[in-house]
Amino acid sequence: MYPKISVNLGNLVLSLSDALDLAFSSLAMHQQRTAFIAWELGKRAKLEGNRIENVFLASLLHDIGALSIEEKKSLHDNETSEVEQHCIRGKNLFKSNPWLAPCADLVRYHHRGWVMWKEPRDTPKVFDSQLLFLADYLERQIDRKTYILHQDEVLCSRLKELAGKQISSEIVDLFLEISRREEFWLDLASPRLYSLLLNHGPFQIIEVDINNIVIFAKLLGMIVDFKSPFTAAHSSGVAQCSMLLAEMVGMSDSEVKLMEVAGLLHDLGKLVVPNSILEKPAGLTQMEMAVMKQHTYHTFSILSTIAGLQMIAEWAAYHHERLDGKGYPFKREAHEINLGARIMAVSDIFTALAEDRPYRRGMETTRIKTILQEQASRGIQDPRIIKLLLENFEEVRKAVTERQEQARYYYQTEVEKSE
Ligand SMILES: [Fe+2]
Ligand SMILES: [Fe+2]
Ligand SMILES: [Fe+2]
Repeated sequence: MYPKISVNLGNLVLSLSDALDLAFSSLAMHQQRTAFIAWELGKRAKLEGNRIENVFLASLLHDIGALSIEEKKSLHDNETSEVEQHCIRGKNLFKSNPWLAPCADLVRYHHRGWVMWKEPRDTPKVFDSQLLFLADYLERQIDRKTYILHQDEVLCSRLKELAGKQISSEIVDLFLEISRREEFWLDLASPRLYSLLLNHGPFQIIEVDINNIVIFAKLLGMIVDFKSPFTAAHSSGVAQCSMLLAEMVGMSDSEVKLMEVAGLLHDLGKLVVPNSILEKPAGLTQMEMAVMKQHTYHTFSILSTIAGLQMIAEWAAYHHERLDGKGYPFKREAHEINLGARIMAVSDIFTALAEDRPYRRGMETTRIKTILQEQASRGIQDPRIIKLLLENFEEVRKAVTERQEQARYYYQTEVEKSE
């Protein structure tokens, strides 16, 4: 029984930011580090009201619109690459979330150079986007293999070259003041930046309730699903199925909501798997399967860093475990797999069988039922949950299909819409 569930906003967004930067090692912590720089700039500029919090929040998730690993890599490495699409998609995604909507414009314009602005440049919109511009640019210039205090001067001189052109001279000057402190650079390069931002950054006292946790989970579930058209509604489907099964086994209302969150986030770790593997139009080789197997490990490692959500880390991340101990990657045995995780595994199998994949169409009802029955009789998945699903098959399939259609429609009309 979980009577009152809430998580700290800073904890939640820092962990989600971390998840988005898991894609490859040279990107690790990119958004957290960008947020730290932007936050220091905001403090130095003495921004008032919620502006500093908004700059921090926008920076932490600013590349949310870059969906595939390939897109993230080209944005990170290549200054001249096409940047508009991830800015527009990022703005659309921010607008879908009431906590993020107020800073959607900052994400939209985080690649707009100072001289490109046509509107008055002394407005908060321009100034705050420029803070993010500088922070993002500087973070990408840092050589991660070189000690940070051996490159601070070079980094500052690169920024000075952009002053008055790409970045406002006033903001470059603010940064140069900050950069005099070795502490700033050491914090920036510290592997403990996460805890520094959690314990000393904004949002230390803001709590997010279960309904708002669902809103954030929907956003992240979309990011995972929209990586590939073949999975464009997978997490939505799994969430719907696991909620219905949770209700049927008699879980409480708040547990059912947590099952929805776990369903939306169960494949969070797929953010580390390249699309070439996710979209492969055939079975995976052993080497590719080994890459795939890490995804639930990362789902677990991210969710277990959010205080208050640890109980769903197992629900979400054990969906490829099996009661006979032959699942992956944790090799849990039946007695170690709790009810939520059992429901999630069955929901994942059901949803995957019913939807189109790169190498096959979605299966017919009779075929799905046969496979599920087999999973129960061979002791792979929980027979009690499979029985419930089979007894209510049409109801569940209809609800899952409807939710998946809504998710696809939302993606096409809201997330991919142009300006
Ligand atoms: Fe970007
Ligand atoms: Fe970035
Ligand atoms: Fe999975």
